[in-house]
Amino acid sequence: MSLIADLSERFAVAFEKLGLDPSLGIVTVSDRSDLAQFQCNGALAAAKAAGRAPRDIAEDVVGGAADPDVFSELSVAGAGFINIKLTDQFLGQWLASVAADGRFGAQRHTGNGKVLVDFGGPNVAKAMHVGHLRASLIGDSLQKIFRWAGYDVISDIHIGDWGTQMGQLLIEVERRFPDLPYFDAGYTGPYPEEAPVTLDDLQEMYPVVAARTDEDPEERDRARRATLELQQGRAGYLALWQHFWNVSHEAQQADFEKLGIRFDLWYGESTVHDRVAPMLEKLAAAGTIVEDEGAQIMVVAEEGDRKEIPPLLLTKSDGGYLYGTTDLATVDHRVEMGVGLALYVVDARQALHFEQVFRAAHKSGIAPPEMILEHVPFGTMNGPDGKPFKTREGGVLKLDDLIGMVTGAAYRRLEEAELATNYGEEERREISRQVGLAALKYGDLSNHRTSNYVFDLDRFTSFEGKTGPYLQYGAVRIKSILRRAGERDLAPGEILAPANDAERQLMLVVTRFPEVLDRSVEFRAPNHLAEYAYDMVVAFNRFYEACHILREEDAGRQASWLRLVEVTLGLLTLLLELLGIDVPERM
Ligand code: ARG
Repeated sequence: MSLIADLSERFAVAFEKLGLDPSLGIVTVSDRSDLAQFQCNGALAAAKAAGRAPRDIAEDVVGGAADPDVFSELSVAGAGFINIKLTDQFLGQWLASVAADGRFGAQRHTGNGKVLVDFGGPNVAKAMHVGHLRASLIGDSLQKIFRWAGYDVISDIHIGDWGTQMGQLLIEVERRFPDLPYFDAGYTGPYPEEAPVTLDDLQEMYPVVAARTDEDPEERDRARRATLELQQGRAGYLALWQHFWNVSHEAQQADFEKLGIRFDLWYGESTVHDRVAPMLEKLAAAGTIVEDEGAQIMVVAEEGDRKEIPPLLLTKSDGGYLYGTTDLATVDHRVEMGVGLALYVVDARQALHFEQVFRAAHKSGIAPPEMILEHVPFGTMNGPDGKPFKTREGGVLKLDDLIGMVTGAAYRRLEEAELATNYGEEERREISRQVGLAALKYGDLSNHRTSNYVFDLDRFTSFEGKTGPYLQYGAVRIKSILRRAGERDLAPGEILAPANDAERQLMLVVTRFPEVLDRSVEFRAPNHLAEYAYDMVVAFNRFYEACHILREEDAGRQASWLRLVEVTLGLLTLLLELLGIDVPERM
């Protein structure tokens, strides 16, 4: 149980003894840390129903909750707030129990079925943009948080590989290399094993053909037909499409590897292709979808909608499938996989799409009523000009370039801070890479996901302030304290009551973990953990300044401090891990 939950229970009992609702006993961390450690505001809420002055109720609650072993101070303030301070003995004992628990006091969550995290979502043959970067960082952190919290998690990259852009690329390759066997309808194979194009070729081709189909209706129609024929299984197109997929996949794998991000499944839109036709037949038979000028649509508007929710388009008049079609079939697939909660970590701009798809899934019965489908939206990463981040050349971001940029900046920062200076070049580069990624990830995850933020390389890579490198360096320093203690044969021991305020504050921060974890799960928001990790390093640094651990003469005290250092390191390492940030051995 968490400390806050324990305290809340004590106050719940006190309220109940007065014949009041026990849920009034909720205790929170004090917002006036100069006055108290915790507070309970239940008396104010109780006053009306009880027909008594809140201060009177508060006095009675204090009387009922009083326990000299637990509370060093319970006092009524202002209109009827209860201020709470713990005895040092109680706090020390609490920390000892946290130290003995591999989960730092956090409960194990269980869900109704598996949790699927759909994130990353790059498209075949198209360069990833910042939206994909954010999806990747936030989604990866969420898969880690949910997994650690105890859920059975599956992550799926859901690659965009079955839409119009596939047809566009097919016609562009045909235009340039008309003699390739893929375009010869009479050819019976086998098709060449070697890809006729590289990823660079495709990325160069894509904007060219996109512009052409934009302007020229005939070309647009050709691309549409090619897409349709691909979806209908034309052998040559499928073989060429497979090459597109493979070259993209290789690059994407390398990109995600560099970010330290793993997916359980590399599924995509095309994965569910075979499910689409039977799904549509069933829906048509049930009358859930209707014909509309040759297209098939599902009406998903609901009574009470405050804005218009247009129908979900499932087939075009030519029979081709759309983004929503494959997404709906993907829900069907996920139901089969035993998913109870699906989180779609995708750009906020796709909110309407998901609203339509989720409604369609429930309305049609594809998703059982208890299955939760949830869009986890996020804002944009902007450049200094306040517009979506672009490279200096004005192009979309290439992940490789971005990683190179943050690594380079980290390298210079390390030099500036005179860190890692006497290590070999290879280690320095490796540390720079880790620091650069920490800067990038923390810079993103420390914001609430729905807000937009400015990518500020200078600020993100600084070793001061609320940054990834600051936290990483904090963890490295803690490691080195433990290493030096080990070299002197000093071992952590039993945790005692805190000896001074800095130590007390650090202990209080450590006890907050279970709530912070729960909040980040509940709101699907890694920033709570990011913020908390920062509070922890700040509190640790104060503690370390106040307590001269290695020089301490009282062996019991020293061993207790070392255990606290160890717990802090374990927790901080976990927090960083949940944010996708590595801690170097030394710096
Ligand atoms: N490929 C899509 C894009 O680039 C993102 C996919 C998100 N996931 C999903 N199930 N639709 O916008």
